[in-house]
Amino acid sequence: MVQELVLEVDNVSKNFPGVQALKNITFSLYAGEVHCIVGENGAGKTTFIKILSGALVPDEGTIKVFGKTYRTIHPSLAITLGIQTVYQESVLVNSLSVAENIFLGHEEIARWGLFSRSKTMERAGEIISRFGVALSPGELVENLSNAEKQIVGILKALSQEARVLILDEPTAALSAVEKATLFKVLRQAEEREVAIIYISHHLEEVFEIGDRITVLKDGKKVATHEVEKVNQDTLIREMVGRPAELFYVRGRLPSQERDDGREVLEVHNLRGVMVKNVSFQVFSGEIFGIGGMVGSGRTELLRLLFGLDPREGGELLLNGRNIIPRSPLEAIARGICLITEDRQKTGLILSRSVRENTVLATINLTRREWLNLEIEGEKVEKIVGQLQIVTPHIDQEVMYLSGGNQQKVVLAKWLLTRGKIYLFDEPTRGIDVGAKEEIYRLMVKLAEDGKFVIMVSSDMPELIALSDRVGVMCDGEMVAILNKEEASEENILSCALGRKMNDED
Ligand SMILES: Nc1ncnc2c1ncn2[C@@H]1O[C@H](COP(=O)(O)OP(=O)(O)OP(=O)(O)O)[C@@H](O)[C@H]1O
Ligand SMILES: [Mg+2]
Repeated sequence: MVQELVLEVDNVSKNFPGVQALKNITFSLYAGEVHCIVGENGAGKTTFIKILSGALVPDEGTIKVFGKTYRTIHPSLAITLGIQTVYQESVLVNSLSVAENIFLGHEEIARWGLFSRSKTMERAGEIISRFGVALSPGELVENLSNAEKQIVGILKALSQEARVLILDEPTAALSAVEKATLFKVLRQAEEREVAIIYISHHLEEVFEIGDRITVLKDGKKVATHEVEKVNQDTLIREMVGRPAELFYVRGRLPSQERDDGREVLEVHNLRGVMVKNVSFQVFSGEIFGIGGMVGSGRTELLRLLFGLDPREGGELLLNGRNIIPRSPLEAIARGICLITEDRQKTGLILSRSVRENTVLATINLTRREWLNLEIEGEKVEKIVGQLQIVTPHIDQEVMYLSGGNQQKVVLAKWLLTRGKIYLFDEPTRGIDVGAKEEIYRLMVKLAEDGKFVIMVSSDMPELIALSDRVGVMCDGEMVAILNKEEASEENILSCALGRKMNDED
């Protein structure tokens, strides 16, 4: 069977001030294939798909869609050509139903008469069942989980006669079970001859869903492989330029003895809107992992510990003394750092430079120190190098960095502060394989320096490799605390799905 060539990109380049984001890219896409794009943070992946969806104009090169050649693609042309892009942050309207969101902005609605609610529900119901998803068309989007919202976003794209579906890191906010649903929808789309471009930092996903894989490095195409003819090691070497460990192995584990005079941090009966009576202990020098489904209350738990959300009760005891903060300012003063998952909203000032963002949290608020950006520069340069942050210089505004590099700046900021308690929420979301290693090393270093490290992660290999113990949350409760031997993917998942496990066995 001859596959239909949907898209042919020839010699496309794109420059930003100080950065050649793409250089002479060639790329092809066939109907019914999943073509994955991998590469380090800043390699040019998002820039490339923005050119295909009309969000950016290339400096040179051409794009041929269904045999017709274009120099640039405008957003409306992209839609006409059937090119649909689903970005990471969904653009759904919370106060409308699933069905209304799917058809919002389609001309079909007008054709059926604007308020034909029953028709909208019926059509949405058809699409939902066609793709085999468990969603009710009448449900309000605000009641959906992040994963379900993502699925609605994809159904919306597919319902508009999509011939090309572009996904930029779609699983970043999804747990294992939710990912399975997403893949099911994508396979359905594939069978319907939709061509899919799929960007991900998770190589195991790429091998699971992909037909071909293109590797970008520093804005250049390194290779395009058929998935059966390549392995992870080769891909990593092409992406990173050196071999890297896929599964990080922690060197030295701190002793498991608990009565050796180590400091202890105790979360005691903590309660909040989404958190029900959570209690656990962390010893200094330990990395305490928290697993669970998206929406199980893990992020809320960290927010309570940082004084961000209203607390209904409970304590945080450091060596027996209650230090629970009433505000983030108090938290910082007490040495508590929260490294958030949502970098753009809570972690960065996008219009300020890498340098300013990085030193922000080291300003000592109580001592009224002046910020000396010159002296701080050396420290910033060092951590920028360690985390391989791709930026033309440290005075570049953070908004011009790629997604993963922004995340690294958030990490850099907190790694430079002298905290005592580090709360990491999905520390390596959106970060490439090479830089992950360095972040793990820095986290282990914090633990070895006697800090308390608490880490929420949906990345199973990461959770298992890095944690000394893993607490698993389900529905706002901590349903199990697993030690190193018990913390297998299977155990964590079964606890996360609500099967309680006794700490003792
Ligand atoms: N508007 C812009 N102005 C200046 N530089 C930019 C702009 N957009 C992107 N860049 C730069 O272009 C390069 C490629 O960025 P891009 O976002 O395409 O990377 P990416 O491969 O998607 O990385 P990530 O995995 O981190 O998302 C980066 O060095 C980035 O800083
Ligand atoms: Mg990107």
